[in-house]
Amino acid sequence: MNYTIAVIPGDGIGPEVMEETKKVLEAVGRKFGHQFAFQTVLAGGAAIDAFGECLPQNTIDVAKSADAVLLGAVGGPKWDALPGEQRPEKALLRLRKELGLYANIRPAKVFSDLADASPLRPEIIGKGLDIVIVRELTGGIYFGKRGHVETEFGEAAYDVEQYSVGEIRRISRTAFEMARKRRGIVSSVDKANVLESSRLWRKTVNEVAEDYPDVTLNHFYVDNASMQLIRDPRQFDVILTSNLFGDILSDEASQITGSIGMLPSASLTDGNFGMYEPVHGSAPDIAGTGKANPLATILSAAMMLRYTLNLPEEADAIENAVDRFLAAGFRTADLSGGAPDALSTKETGDRVAAMI
Ligand code: NAI
Ligand code: MG
Repeated sequence: MNYTIAVIPGDGIGPEVMEETKKVLEAVGRKFGHQFAFQTVLAGGAAIDAFGECLPQNTIDVAKSADAVLLGAVGGPKWDALPGEQRPEKALLRLRKELGLYANIRPAKVFSDLADASPLRPEIIGKGLDIVIVRELTGGIYFGKRGHVETEFGEAAYDVEQYSVGEIRRISRTAFEMARKRRGIVSSVDKANVLESSRLWRKTVNEVAEDYPDVTLNHFYVDNASMQLIRDPRQFDVILTSNLFGDILSDEASQITGSIGMLPSASLTDGNFGMYEPVHGSAPDIAGTGKANPLATILSAAMMLRYTLNLPEEADAIENAVDRFLAAGFRTADLSGGAPDALSTKETGDRVAAMI
């Protein structure tokens, strides 16, 4: 089959990790008889430099017409002085909205060969901890009404957390469908003891759960959930939550795995369309040094094969290659504490591609 992939390398280490990811996808194409046509377009700082805007219309058009979108990372000190609306990072928020990517999927997985990278004790993470966070991405307080008012205490500012039944239902279905293919547990996280929007969240999730009698649903208040993630992370399978709570909890969960250079993510629409990117940023501190770990982006490409292109065997081939790469003792700089024999970005891409 032929697939068109919109590729947005971005800034900093983005283009470096993307180069290796394309290499691995090409190896998958050769093995399974697929053609991946990469359409490279700009967003973020690279787009500001070339076109004076962080998200050119052409980038949106190419992304919309592609089968899937792969993104490196955007941003860096060169553009930090720009006002909020013009910064590279704004491209991401706008792209998510333009493409309707309301479901953010972030697996937090401890690779068995990297268990010592976790800050938690081995008996707490157990063997191969594997959690998925399903975060609502285009609603809630990040997109709610905001403003400034005068009060008796001086100037005040506000942001509104608002969720509709429709928004809650569709993200809930994403979580329940995912749990069905995994260990069958959805943990919904809210603040229903205090917030009205959370009470509607909980009521709606309970209604959706009726369509999934084979999935176990439990509810957590967000403060308890953040504690339980550290105390006993193995109790979680799929965590379902709002935009704000998901932003915070997914960073917390990512740290349990110990290595930001390993974590992929997907942002999905109603259909199967999606944008795939590593959880990390553009890492300007190591850009150009060959120290960037490309595995987070390579694993994001595996998610793309599984969720959008419906190629589960091909996705497994990438994930198995990464497992074998680690089992063979290969390490990038971030995984080896800077050991002199650490593999470079390119060496890592070459080895994983060869292992496909
Ligand atoms: P960051 O994730 O870029 O870097 C945090 C730390 O992790 C740095 O020490 C970096 O060297 C290291 N690191 C990150 N990815 C790595 C990899 N693949 N291999 C080895 N080490 C890695 O986050 P930071 O420093 O807060 O942000 C840098 C820039 O990236 C900022 O402009 C920020 O706004 C942007 N950013 C962009 C994101 C995106 O495009 N999705 C997400 C997060 C930040
Ligand atoms: Mg965040």
